[in-house]
Amino acid sequence: MEIKKAEGKLGVLVVGIGGAVSSTFVVGTLAARKGLTTPIGSLTQMAHIELGKGADKREPKIKDVVPLADLNDLVIGGWDIFEEDVYAAALHAEVLTEKDINKVKDELQAIKPMKAVFYQEYVTRLHGTWVKDAATKYDAMEQVKADIEEFKRKNNCSRLVMIWAASTEVYIPMGEAHKSVVAFEEAMKSNSPEISPSMIYAYAAVSSGVPFINGAPALTVDMPAIWELADKNNVPICGKDFKTGQTMMKTVLAPMLKTRMLGLDGWFSTNILGNRDGEVLDDPASFKTKEVSKLSVIDTILDSEKYPELYGNIYHKVRINYYPPRKDNKEGWDNIDLVGWMGYPMQLKVDFLCRDSILAAPLMLDLIILTDLSQRAGFKGIQTWLSFYFKSPMHTPDTEPLHDLFAQFVKMKNTLRVMIGEEPEDYLG
Ligand SMILES: NC(=O)c1ccc[n+]([C@@H]2O[C@H](COP(=O)([O-])OP(=O)(O)OC[C@H]3O[C@@H](n4cnc5c(N)ncnc54)[C@H](O)[C@@H]3O)[C@@H](O)[C@H]2O)c1
Repeated sequence: MEIKKAEGKLGVLVVGIGGAVSSTFVVGTLAARKGLTTPIGSLTQMAHIELGKGADKREPKIKDVVPLADLNDLVIGGWDIFEEDVYAAALHAEVLTEKDINKVKDELQAIKPMKAVFYQEYVTRLHGTWVKDAATKYDAMEQVKADIEEFKRKNNCSRLVMIWAASTEVYIPMGEAHKSVVAFEEAMKSNSPEISPSMIYAYAAVSSGVPFINGAPALTVDMPAIWELADKNNVPICGKDFKTGQTMMKTVLAPMLKTRMLGLDGWFSTNILGNRDGEVLDDPASFKTKEVSKLSVIDTILDSEKYPELYGNIYHKVRINYYPPRKDNKEGWDNIDLVGWMGYPMQLKVDFLCRDSILAAPLMLDLIILTDLSQRAGFKGIQTWLSFYFKSPMHTPDTEPLHDLFAQFVKMKNTLRVMIGEEPEDYLG
């Protein structure tokens, strides 16, 4: 497979650059490239890959054999609804210590957000003050396109990637406006409520030939209109919703139950979380978007149609509670009621004291690096091989989403192998 070289600067355009996840990603990436920290959690920076068979067997680092962008070539910018620079934002987020943030203070202060596309009704808990003024949503989209061009020119980038790490928008189901490029453009011009800000950024990126990653659960790029646009412009797209804490655990534990043919009666998941994301998700309309993303996982993995006696009657509940004292340090509890031999009940309890942004930041870095690789390899449309990173992986209408973390991992590594002209692993010998 022909992969274009990673030459020149890669512009990284982050929507929600002032958020907890984004600022944690930026601080860590800038510190890692100076050798001041280890990028723990990032496969592109740390993982090895098994290649070859028999005497030819070897296990190099992924980044030593796959032509990935170098961290030193990343130029980071983006948009937010608040004007503060990324240094102030990182302090504000209270994820990292001031000592760690100060290691790259000057570079962080130089990253100032561009004015955002924002309409209050899509994130009701936030009141943006650094917001574009545009008569229609179509005009707002044109302004984002101009921002993209300007960023590329000013920073002398050879290519760009855009990633949504902004707040979760209220739930918008698939509607007529999302079904074709023509309908989508008309809807932007008529300021249709079916078009949310994330969709406007997505349209601006994809129509500018820029790959788009959706780290949140909204539709954004997961609709026929954007698939059509991505296909026409040869642009890779992927999403939705970074797979970090509780859902990552689910996609490890549910395959375990199924592999052992153990039954399931119920799965209750609850969280306490005190950051801005928690505050936004306290609004039922934003929570609904998240809930849909979190609930689909178990059903798809367990396949109740094929195994009605094991999984035909599962009670699955997901709760997120805004609890300010915990800030970004989420605690997630799972109670799993499983069933064994002759129907005897058992319980499994998980208490995950995680740090949301610490888990999400390396996913942002990997997705940026790998989506850029996709584009240089000539891939376009939905990147199912990146399902590994998402709670609710986008998939083509004729395929099922892949949720099992290790099945996703195999798919990702095999795609990398094929990209560099190696045999995919068949795990038979
Ligand atoms: N941290 C995790 O583990 C995790 C996992 C999956 C998904 N996510 C999602 O990632 C997103 C970011 O999470 P976070 O904890 O950083 O939240 P956050 O609230 O700290 O950051 C979101 C940022 O987006 C900005 N914003 C909102 N609307 C915007 C718009 N229209 N344009 C530009 N900027 C906008 C906000 O001002 C804020 O700075 C959320 O949607 C969250 O649900 C996070």
